[in-house]
Amino acid sequence: MIETDILVIGAGAAGLMCAAIAGQRGRRVMLVDHNEAPGAKILISGGGRCNFTNLDIQPDRFLSANAHFAKSALARYKATDFIALIERHGIAYHEKTLGQLFCDGSAKQIVAMLMKEAKAGNVDCRFSVKVEDIQKPDRFLISTSQGPITADAVVLACGGLSIPKLGASDFAYRTAKRFGMKLIEPRPGLVPLTAGPADIDWMRSITGTALPCIASTGKRRFPEAMLFTHKGVSGPAILQISSYLPPSGGSITMDWLAGSGDGREWLLDAKRDRPKTSLKTLLAERLPARLATLLVEKFVEDGKLADLSDKKLLALADRLQAWPFAPDGTEGFAKAEVTLGGIDTDALSSKTMEAKKIPGLYAIGEAVDVTGWLGGYNFQWAWSSGWVAGMSA
Ligand code: FDA
Repeated sequence: MIETDILVIGAGAAGLMCAAIAGQRGRRVMLVDHNEAPGAKILISGGGRCNFTNLDIQPDRFLSANAHFAKSALARYKATDFIALIERHGIAYHEKTLGQLFCDGSAKQIVAMLMKEAKAGNVDCRFSVKVEDIQKPDRFLISTSQGPITADAVVLACGGLSIPKLGASDFAYRTAKRFGMKLIEPRPGLVPLTAGPADIDWMRSITGTALPCIASTGKRRFPEAMLFTHKGVSGPAILQISSYLPPSGGSITMDWLAGSGDGREWLLDAKRDRPKTSLKTLLAERLPARLATLLVEKFVEDGKLADLSDKKLLALADRLQAWPFAPDGTEGFAKAEVTLGGIDTDALSSKTMEAKKIPGLYAIGEAVDVTGWLGGYNFQWAWSSGWVAGMSA
């Protein structure tokens, strides 16, 4: 029987941070993962450069049934703390856009840094170890594919359901439920949206076309790029807005003039100044050519601007600035960057991430019902929640 003070389950962002910190405090820590190597999601994140945090971390950029829960951990371990760690390890980085920080080199540097930190805490890291069950007769008794382990504390750092092929499992949820904690129904977040019969053909016909856009639902607006896909729509603006759609589907609008608000003037002024220009030519001045062509083939009559009524042009302008789309669904966990929902934060201390009713049991990272925006927010939650648990366990 292997014995340890703390067993951290999951060598992703949250688990690596937690294990390193607890180990550096002098606790005996074992970190296990059923993958063969640590940090699978870190390695593929940010196109291989890992968008590891954001300069503009604010609690209202995290979704949770309890909007206040994330505040404490985010305030105790800030983006600046992680940046300081990166700098101590000599990892070069840059801001790409909207406060998003990426490695200049490779995401491998982040995993290597976290493994070095774990080593500095004498963490016993073991891979290809699948945790199967946890009992708590007295200490925690953990069954794994490599035999039983006992521990005083267990940290559920085994993530959510997104990207099953990278090792995602429902183990954290099953365990939380077994110990009497509630779940907020997990569902895909930061996920491409799929089109139903009304839209699929035209969207598919311009697959690969990208443009700046403002995606909105209710009062939420995300100005970023969007992309047409063979299943519907994707790109940062769409991924962001997807997290705010209700499980029943909901609807969004897409402003293809990217918030300029000048669509009506643009079309009417052009009609006055350049009456012989065709609508298609004009649209292609501000929209990708394939989208402009599709619009005049499918949605509006083409012709010289002089021959089109003001009414038609005004209706078109309004539509370009709020193109309605009711998705049929999403591309699901196979394509979702994160899982919305998870272990109900009511069951956890926001200061330590320890279960209120089961001393010694912790849950951190994506397993918990805290989901950030696109742009480094989810890693920051993993670092912050991992750090506070590592300081407490
Ligand atoms: P994570 O899922 O990373 O780790 C959980 C670990 O537990 C896994 O290694 C898994 O193998 C292991 N495990 C599960 N069940 C187990 C069991 N029963 N026994 C043993 N081990 C088990 N975020 C961001 O801020 N910036 C970015 O650039 C990106 N980019 C990005 C790209 C893509 C393609 C995806 C899918 C996601 C992102 N994200 C992101 C989101 C980010 O990757 C995610 O929020 C964190 O990795 C979550 O970290 P966790 O440690 O909580 O879970």
